[in-house]
Amino acid sequence: MRHPILPALLLAGATLFAGDPAKDLPKFQGGDLQKYWMDACARCHGANGNGRDNGGKQLPDAGFDFTDSRKANKKKDSDWLKVTLDGKEKMPAFKDKMSADDAQKMIAIMRKFAAK
Ligand code: HEC
Repeated sequence: MRHPILPALLLAGATLFAGDPAKDLPKFQGGDLQKYWMDACARCHGANGNGRDNGGKQLPDAGFDFTDSRKANKKKDSDWLKVTLDGKEKMPAFKDKMSADDAQKMIAIMRKFAAK
């Protein structure tokens, strides 16, 4: 006889898992950092850094609007480097996913969001 509850539990588990944006973050494999932003950061910060999805809906775990130049210009590169590597509250640490050098280069991408 097939068990009626087990498939339902598996389904519920899979849905929960897919809903956590901090899960399954890829490692930077070298190459295009812009692409890495899309793969690892955009799920929370948005493709354009404004914390919105492609439909313009506010993402729940964005934390910071990189397109707000007034706020972004007050932030130091060294602070952004530290948060990217070490994480902060709901922002996951990336020090096991990318080198400090690559994280430093990533800051140029975040600065461009505010320059637009
Ligand atoms: C799981 C969601 C999530 C992912 C994925 C994520 N971030 Fe964040 N990030 C946040 C949240 C939330 C904050 C706000 C943290 C706080 O101040 O409490 C934040 C803050 C930051 C800040 C600091 C902004 C400021 O000055 O307040 C930087 C820099 C940053 N993220 C870079 C990145 C980069 C680069 C990536 C990808 C490599 C990334 N984040 C991926 C959620 C995420």
